[in-house]
Amino acid sequence: METTSTLAPSTQRLKGKVAIISGGASGFGKSTAKLFVKHGAKVVICDVEDEQGHCVCEEIKASIHYNDREVAEEIISYIHCDITNEDEVKNLIDLTISKHGKLDIMFNNAGIFGDTAMSVLETTSENFKKVFQTNVYGGFLGAKHAARVMIPRKSGVILFTASLASAVAGESPHAYTMSKHAVVGLMKNLCVEMGQHGIRVNAISPGVISTPLTTNGFGMDKETLDQVVCESNVLKGVLPQPLDVANAALFMASDEAKFVSGLNLFLDGGNNVTNPSFSTVLKSFLA
Ligand SMILES: NC(=O)c1ccc[n+]([C@@H]2O[C@H](COP(=O)([O-])OP(=O)(O)OC[C@H]3O[C@@H](n4cnc5c(N)ncnc54)[C@H](O)[C@@H]3O)[C@@H](O)[C@H]2O)c1
Repeated sequence: METTSTLAPSTQRLKGKVAIISGGASGFGKSTAKLFVKHGAKVVICDVEDEQGHCVCEEIKASIHYNDREVAEEIISYIHCDITNEDEVKNLIDLTISKHGKLDIMFNNAGIFGDTAMSVLETTSENFKKVFQTNVYGGFLGAKHAARVMIPRKSGVILFTASLASAVAGESPHAYTMSKHAVVGLMKNLCVEMGQHGIRVNAISPGVISTPLTTNGFGMDKETLDQVVCESNVLKGVLPQPLDVANAALFMASDEAKFVSGLNLFLDGGNNVTNPSFSTVLKSFLA
C-alpha cells in the first residue's frame, strides 16, 4: 500500500525542488510523482494519456489535503507531451520554467516495450523505429531541453529509466534491448558533458515489475506476472513494485546522491550478476 500524504518538512528529501516526470500517468512515473510530492517537490507530469494523467494529478491532490486548488495545482500538474515531438518537449520545459522558475530534476522515464516477437526475423522496421523513437530519441529530447535550462543555473539532475535489458541479453526483444543499451550510452555521454556544469546524470535499471507495460506486454494478469517474477528472481521473498523504482529515483534525485553521476543503478534483486541457465539444466540432469 503506497501512502501519499506529505511528510513533515524536516524529513522531506526534495523540499523546494521542481521535477518533471515523463510517463507520469502510469506505472513507475505515477508512483514516483506521488513519492516526490510527498517529499516536498513540485512535480509536473507529462504523458500522452491525458485522461489518466489528469486522474493521477487529482489523486495526488486529494492525498495532500490542500483545500486551495491553486496551491494544489502548484504542487502537482499535468502537461500533455509526446516525448518524440521536439516542439512538445520544448513546450513542456518552457511551461515548467514559466510556472516554477526553474527545473531541478528531469526524470526521462516514459518508454514502450514494443512488439513482443523475440526473433530478429520477426522484428519489423516499423516496430524498431517506434521503440527507438520513444525510448532513445524521446529520452534524448528530454535531456536536451532540460540541459538548456539547467546549464545556466549550473545545477540539476537528469535521470533515465533504462532496464535490466541494458545488461542482460536474450530476455527482451531486440529493439527494446538495443534501445535500453542506447539509453545507458546516452546517460554516460551526458554525464561527462553535464558534469562540466555541475549537473548529475544517472539511470535506473529495473528488472521485471508488474505495470501496464509488462502485463500488457506479456499478456498476463498482475497476479500471474507477480508469480513468474517471484519464482524467477535471484532474491527470494521480495515482490518488486513500482514504489521500489520511485524510492531509487528519490535517492538519485535528492542531494543525498550529490556525488553520484554516470551510474546505471540496477534494481533487480541481483538478477544482472548471474546466468541461472547452467545450474537449472544441471539440476534437471542430476535429478
Ligand atoms: N515495468 C517493468 O518491468 C520495466 C522494467 C524495466 C524498465 N522499464 C521502463 O520503465 C519505464 C516506465 O515503464 P512502466 O513499466 O511504468 O510502463 P507504463 O506503461 O505503466 O508507463 C509508461 C508511460 O509512458 C507513457 N508514454 C509512452 N510513450 C510516450 C510518449 N511518446 N510520450 C509521452 N509518454 C509516453 C505511457 O502513456 C505510459 O503512461 C519505461 O521506460 C520502461 O521501458 C519498465
